[in-house]
Amino acid sequence: MAEMARRFTLIGNLADRPVSRADLLAQVPDADALTVTLAETVDQELLEKAGRLKVVAVYAVGYNNVDVPAAIARGVVVTNTPDVLTETTADLAWGLLLAVARRIPEGERVLREGRWEGWSPTQFLGSEVHGRVLGIIGMGRIGRAVARRARGFGMQVVYSSPRPLAPEDEAALNAARLPLRALLECADFVSLHVPLTEHTRHLLGKDEFALMRRTSILINTSRGSVVDETALVDALRQGQLAGAGLDVYEHEPQIHSGLLGLSNVVLLPHLGSATFDTRVKMGMMVVENISAVLSGKEPPNRIRA
Ligand code: DGY
Repeated sequence: MAEMARRFTLIGNLADRPVSRADLLAQVPDADALTVTLAETVDQELLEKAGRLKVVAVYAVGYNNVDVPAAIARGVVVTNTPDVLTETTADLAWGLLLAVARRIPEGERVLREGRWEGWSPTQFLGSEVHGRVLGIIGMGRIGRAVARRARGFGMQVVYSSPRPLAPEDEAALNAARLPLRALLECADFVSLHVPLTEHTRHLLGKDEFALMRRTSILINTSRGSVVDETALVDALRQGQLAGAGLDVYEHEPQIHSGLLGLSNVVLLPHLGSATFDTRVKMGMMVVENISAVLSGKEPPNRIRA
């Protein structure tokens, strides 16, 4: 924000909280550049009011909240913040995986609430992680970073992705490409790393959960709507899978009440990229993207429709 203030005149929501739609629509006509988080929608309605706008710089790698074709059709450049959050998000996916598998938040709650009565042989038994099969749906930058970490746990990786990895990358990651259905049938852990598009909305729903192992655990650090949340709640209640670790939700910041009632689910408030270093890097990318467009240069992270 300090660097932005040095380079540009800032208007609008400068607070560390989401902006209301009404305020955003009221302020956008005066803007040459707009930076949004994943919480604001940039659609036809907004673009029609944004007569001066030259660039929408998304402060995130995911940009499903922006109508990119509509922006491009109006000559507005759209940019995002890839790469700098790859490792950070992969770390958090692993944090969730371990937390669910080894029941870490549950154990901590019991201890803090003074309910721990001492060690016993069958207390809080969780799932093994090392040596198990990790299924990665979406083998892009973050998917590959998650797979790299699996090597340290001696896991076998299976992945589903429109494009195969190069054979040497598959060998290095101990990874085999499978159709989605086969992946769901064999993975002990399934971690989602696809962007939200019309093709991936509700990629996992009732039918897919029915294929998963009853001992399996789902991790989602991508976008909430990749999963049919109601179907997930039903599947967890019926024991079709053993647990879930979620950082993202269909209707953020609202959380499905069924999820809140389940003890085999670990829920985080969309923290994937939330480290100081990464958020600063993302911010600096936003500044550079805006500066480039406003000075007639090619921005480093232009999104093409
Ligand atoms: C992203 O960048 O898309 C994350 O969800 C937020 O950092």
